[in-house]
This record gives sequence, structure tokens and C-alpha cells, in this order.
Amino acid sequence: MKESGKEQNKQPAIGEKFQEETKYTPEKLGGHYLDWEHMPERYKNYPESTLKIKLPEAAFSKDAHLRDIIQRRRSVRNYTPNLALPLETLSALLWATQGITADAGEYQFRSAPSAGGLYPIETYIMARAVDGLEQGIYHFRPYAFDLEFIKPGDFSRALAQAALGQGMIANAQATFIWTAIVERSKWKYRQRAYRYIYLDAGHIAQNLYLAGTAAGLGVCGIAAFFDDPSNALIGVDGTEETVLYMASIGWPAK
Ligand SMILES: Cc1cc2nc3c(=O)[nH]c(=O)nc-3n(C[C@H](O)[C@H](O)[C@H](O)COP(=O)(O)O)c2cc1C
Repeated sequence: MKESGKEQNKQPAIGEKFQEETKYTPEKLGGHYLDWEHMPERYKNYPESTLKIKLPEAAFSKDAHLRDIIQRRRSVRNYTPNLALPLETLSALLWATQGITADAGEYQFRSAPSAGGLYPIETYIMARAVDGLEQGIYHFRPYAFDLEFIKPGDFSRALAQAALGQGMIANAQATFIWTAIVERSKWKYRQRAYRYIYLDAGHIAQNLYLAGTAAGLGVCGIAAFFDDPSNALIGVDGTEETVLYMASIGWPAK
């Protein structure tokens, strides 16, 4: 007998399977040990990038109060395209999202929490209009507090297209692109890592929302994008390192 549509819908699809198969149970937790010899690198570097831009000290407004910032935070999608973003402001956003805030010797803590302190998220900036930065794609190095220039060119339209044609990226001063190097988290958490990398990215993005609002900028989180072109744009393989989330930032349109 043919199954009814309703019964067919009861079959777990990938989302339900994912949630089920990444559940912690006492049985699943047994027998896993941490292979310290094969712990993935904590920091990514582009040795072939010959241009490293040392970031200036982060500039924060002293008048910004947390309650007001949270009250004012909105997703802003309309920007004034012709104004540039000062590099000091971008510094503040990078520091707020992934800056190093404490040094514990062998490892460092950052401005946003991370499951197990493993920091699987990498930050790329698509700079369209940032003072002192040639247009292109940059990779942020938290420990060096610099940007590695990895791809010159105006990618604002290409990235907007990759993000399902969301035009705000074409007018934004810059767009943050967050990837995960999945093995950094899988090394400890195995398949459950796939839950944690998205949680990490969410914490980071909220810091961007709040720091951006404090600086008078408009921010919009972007999870609607075509994966393959987004990964290709920054040159990651989409499996070992994959784009999870983006956020456009710009001066709000009047
Ligand atoms: C995970 C996530 C993904 C989102 N993706 C998009 C997106 O692709 N495009 C967009 O315009 N807004 C996106 N948003 C913004 C939401 O639409 C927005 O947060 C929501 O409408 C509530 O408005 P508010 O942020 O102003 O409070 C996203 C927000 C989150 C948290």
C-alpha cells in the first residue's frame, strides 16, 4: 500500500538525523581520549600573503552604554555606500569579535566564548570601502592582530550574488565572513562539533552586532548564501574549512 504523504513526512530528514546522531548519551561518551600529539593548529596563517596590515588600536566610543546598545541593536540592510569605514573602527569590530583578551601562556582567551576554548572560527573580511585597505579579501589573525591580504579586487557584487543576491552586501563598507576549521573542534567533540561551531559563530556575530551598534554602524547577519560560491570566493574547500555565517557592516542610510 502506498504510504500517505503524512506518514512519509514522519521519516527523519537530515535535520532530525543530525540532531539525533549528535546527541550525547553516556554510552557515546565512553572511550574517547584526546590525542594531544595531533591537536590541530590553533591559528591559521597565509605564509604566501606578503602584505600584512598591522591593525591600529581599536577605537571605541566612551559614551556607549550596554543597555542602550542592546535596545538600539537592529539588523540594518540599507547603507550609505560612499563613506569609508575608518580602519580603527574595523579594528574595534575585529577585537570585539575575536580579539585576544587574556593570555594563559600556551593558549589565549578571546572576546567571545568558544566550546572547549578550541576557537574553530576564522574571520575573513571582504573590504569594499575601508580607509587604508585596498579592496579585497583579508584574513584576520587574532594573535598578531593584523590582516593578511589574500585576494585583491572588488568582490562586493560577487559576494552579494553568492548570498542569494542580497544587495546590501554590494553597498556595505565591509562584510565579515566566518568559517570553521572543523577539525579544531572535532578533535575533541567528534560529530557533536557540528553543533558547537554554529554556536561559536553566533556568539561572535552578536559581539559584532553590539560593537557595530556602539560605533553607529548598521550590521546584518547573513546565513542565506550559496555555499559553494561563498567557499570558493575565499578559497576554502567547504569541508575541512567551511563558511558558516556572514555579516554586512556599513554606515546606515539616512
Ligand atoms: C542566523 C541568522 C541568519 C540571518 N540571515 C539573514 C539573511 O541572510 N539576510 C537578512 O537580511 N537577515 C538575516 N538575519 C537577520 C534577521 O532577519 C533578523 O535578526 C530578524 O529579522 C530580527 O530583526 P533584528 O535583528 O533587527 O532584531 C539573520 C539572523 C540570524 C540570527
